Amino acid sequence: MFNQISQQAQNLVSLTTKSAAEKSKTKVIAITSGKGGVGKSTITANMAFVLSQKGYNVAVLDADIGLANMQVLLNVRPAKTFFDYIDGHSSLEEILIPTQYDNLTLCAGKSGYEYTKNTNSLVFSRVVTQIVQLDRYDILLIDTGAGLNEYVQEFLDISDEILAITTTDPSAITDAYALIKMLSKTKKKLLICFNHTKNYTIGDTITNSIKDLSQKNRLNKNFMVKYIGSISSTQNIQKAGRRRLLFVNEFKYDVATIDLENVVDKLLRELEKVKKW
Ligand SMILES: Nc1ncnc2c1ncn2[C@@H]1O[C@H](COP(=O)(O)OP(=O)(O)O)[C@@H](O)[C@H]1O
Ligand SMILES: [Mg+2]
Repeated sequence: MFNQISQQAQNLVSLTTKSAAEKSKTKVIAITSGKGGVGKSTITANMAFVLSQKGYNVAVLDADIGLANMQVLLNVRPAKTFFDYIDGHSSLEEILIPTQYDNLTLCAGKSGYEYTKNTNSLVFSRVVTQIVQLDRYDILLIDTGAGLNEYVQEFLDISDEILAITTTDPSAITDAYALIKMLSKTKKKLLICFNHTKNYTIGDTITNSIKDLSQKNRLNKNFMVKYIGSISSTQNIQKAGRRRLLFVNEFKYDVATIDLENVVDKLLRELEKVKKW
């Protein structure tokens, strides 16, 4: 009897949480890649900054348990990570840490967290839902870490948009295709951005080949793959990184800064299509 009531209470709480999340203005974007080292975290941090400069209130969740480095990129020394919240050692407010940048909040992660402890509990998506429910941020960017494991999938499942970062490297493209194959079963759309690629047309051509392959292999034809631009390689990214600064802020006229600003404009156009705004 007691179990039944407590189950009903839990269902009620989850329903209330769900509807509050649906009413929230926060749009959730997962930034992911099949392969590691493609520039996902660098792009996430700098993209968050560009969006914050445009007046959006942005939060970044570092969900990479392989290499949680968002605190380094945003120059924050977090006392708490979102795993402390999951483990019941801190409040939600304590894990939402202001950065030195206006309108930019970090929810820090931790390398090496034992995911298996929480497998199937959907505890990670609940953290995302609770941040969304605050209705404080316009945009929540999630740096998911590389790969297609269940942990990453949990974050992809709950996101409004998914942005894949890849390079023109054959192994990175193969991984991007594997991502498309998986997402085409459950999602409607994948945005794609090429890093280390100086020419806009190269990314466009490769995206079209990926689409052709998807068609040939009869993946869900309603699934949309949308190319939103490329980012050039530049030494200024490492220069800024070594000083724990963001390259888009330090090197305003660098070609990669201009590339990223174009990518952000395209992303915003996609976000406008998500109902919440
Ligand atoms: N466009 C670029 N030009 C030059 N270096 C880059 C570029 N993008 C990323 N990097 C560098 O590549 C390395 C890996 O980037 P990172 O963002 O950590 O990748 P990921 O998060 O995908 O593992 C970092 O040293 C970063 O400074
Ligand atoms: Mg990373």
